[in-house]
Amino acid sequence: MCDGTLVAAVEEERFNRVKYAAGFPAAAIQYCLKQAGVELEEIDHVAVPRDPYARLGTKLFYALRMPSFARGRAKVLVKFTGVREALAAAFDRDAHVIRAQFHRIEHHQAHLASAFFVSPFERAALLSADGLGDFASTMWGSGSGSRMDIDDAIAFPHSLGLYYTAVTQYLGFLKFGDEYKVMGLAAYGEPEQMDAFRDIVQFDENGNGNGFRLGLDYFVHHRNGPEMSWADADKTPTLGKLCSVGMSRRLGAERAPDAALEQRHRNLAASLQARLEEVYLGMLRKLGKACGLKSICLAGGVAFNCVANGKIFESTPFERVYVQPAAGDAGLAVGAAYYVWNQKLRKPRSFVMDHAYWGPGFSPQEIRAAIQGSVLAREGFCVTELETEELTRRAAAIVADGKILGWFQGRAEWGPRALGNRSIVADPRRPDMKEILNSRIKHREIFRPFAPSILAEATGEWFEKSHPSPFMTLAYAVRPEKRALIPAPTHVDGTGRLQTVTRDANPRYYALISAFRDLTGVPVVLNTSFNDNEPIVCRPQEAIDCFLRTKMDALVLGDFLVTRGR
Ligand SMILES: [Fe+2]
Repeated sequence: MCDGTLVAAVEEERFNRVKYAAGFPAAAIQYCLKQAGVELEEIDHVAVPRDPYARLGTKLFYALRMPSFARGRAKVLVKFTGVREALAAAFDRDAHVIRAQFHRIEHHQAHLASAFFVSPFERAALLSADGLGDFASTMWGSGSGSRMDIDDAIAFPHSLGLYYTAVTQYLGFLKFGDEYKVMGLAAYGEPEQMDAFRDIVQFDENGNGNGFRLGLDYFVHHRNGPEMSWADADKTPTLGKLCSVGMSRRLGAERAPDAALEQRHRNLAASLQARLEEVYLGMLRKLGKACGLKSICLAGGVAFNCVANGKIFESTPFERVYVQPAAGDAGLAVGAAYYVWNQKLRKPRSFVMDHAYWGPGFSPQEIRAAIQGSVLAREGFCVTELETEELTRRAAAIVADGKILGWFQGRAEWGPRALGNRSIVADPRRPDMKEILNSRIKHREIFRPFAPSILAEATGEWFEKSHPSPFMTLAYAVRPEKRALIPAPTHVDGTGRLQTVTRDANPRYYALISAFRDLTGVPVVLNTSFNDNEPIVCRPQEAIDCFLRTKMDALVLGDFLVTRGR
C-alpha cells in the first residue's frame, strides 16, 4: 500500500501452486514490491497481523493445562521475531538494509480493519468471526472516519468457525476449507436437529452481552489445543480433530470420508447452517440495535458464509453490507496495512476497494510468448487475435452454444473467488451444465452449486434482492419465475451466490455478459474459478496447461481467442 492506496495483494498459493499455502509468503511479497516499484530499503512500515502477546492471561491459563499447546505458542513467538530476517532473505539482502518500522496487529483487529478502512462507509458497525486468531474467535465494534473502536471479543475456546469446522469434520469432510462444501450440502436437508445444535452452540439473544458459548462436551480443542500445523510454505495447513465422542453420542455415528452421503447427513448439515445463522444473525441484530448504524462490515472466515450474509437485510437492522473479497485470513495483510495507516498513523481514509483485481497481470507480449511457447501454436488449435468487441461477441457466442470457455484477463483476483479475470464461463440456461462442468473439468461434489455473474443493473429483475454483491459474498433467492431460465447456477433451494458486475469494476467481463445477453436475452453467465483441483491459475502458462489438461472448448487469453480443431 502506497500513501493509503492499495497497489497489490496476492496469496502465495498463486505462485507456489499449493492450495492455502502457509509459511513465509516470499513470492507474494516480491511481486507486490515489484508491482509498486519499491525496493526493500524503501519500505516505511511492515505490519504483521499477529500479536503473540494478545490475551496472554488466557493463553497462560491454557498453556499450563496443555503442554503441547505451550510448545506450539513458543514456536509462534520464535517465528514472528524472524520476520525481518525472512524478509531480507526473500530478496537475498542483509537484514540491516530494512529500515522499516515493524508493527504487530492483533488478528481480529486486522480483520476488522480489512473490512472497514477499505469500505465505502464513513461509519459502520464491524464484526469479525472465524476459527481462531490470537486466541480470539470473534470481535465487534464500530468504525467512524479513520478510526475504529472495539466493543468486545470472544476468546478461545468458543468459536463459530471451530464449531462449523468440527461438524464439517464429523460429516466426513476433513480437508482445510471444506466448510464451503457443507454449506452447499445444507440446502439439501431439513434442520431437524435444532435442539441438539442449540446445545452445541449456546446463545441467548435476550441475554446480557453479545456472546455465545460452545457446549464443550461436544468438542476436544479446549482440552488438546487447536492443533493447527502450517509450518511450511509448501504445505496446505492441517487442523487436528475438533469434535468429541460427545458429538457422536448426541448426533449418531460420524460419517467416514468415503461413506455414502445419506439424508441424515444432509439434515445435519442443514441444522449446522441453521444454527450458525441463528447465532450470527442474532449477534448482528444485537449489534445493530446497540450501535444504531445501518451499515455493517464483515470479515473472518465466517463472513464467507454467503447464505447467512444474504439474510442480513431481512433479519437485522443493517441495510448495507460490505465484505471485501479476501474476507478470510489472507485479507489480514490488507487489514494490518490499513490499521497502521489509518488507526496508528491517523491518516484520513482515501481508498475504497471496489474491485478485486490486485494480483499479477500480464502484457500482450507476455501472453503472446506464452502461446507461442506452448502446443497451442502448433497444429490442432486455432489462435486469433481480436479487438475487444469482436472478442467478446465471439466468446459470448461460444458460451451460448453450450461450450465451456476459459476466460483469462487482466490482473488476478484477490481472495478465493474468481470474479471474471481467472474464470471458467458457461451457459447458465442449460440444466445439464453443472454435470457437464463437473464431469469434464471441475470434478467437484455434485451437491456444490456453481455461481452466477450478472450485470449489476439487472440484479433486482432476476433476484429477490438488489444490494450489490461484487465479490460473491452474498447469496440471494433467484426470482421464482426466473429459476427455470438459469437452472445451472441456481442452487437446489432456489438461491444463487451471485457476483454483480459493473462496467467500472471489470469492463471486459461486463462486455462479455452484455454480449451474451444480446444473444440470449439472459444477462447472466455461470462463473466458476479457472482451475482443476489446484489454486486458481495465475500466469498465462497455467491457464494454457489447465485448458489442455481439461476438456474446455475454448480459451480467451487477453486479446487472443483459442479454439480446438483445424
Ligand atoms: Fe482469521
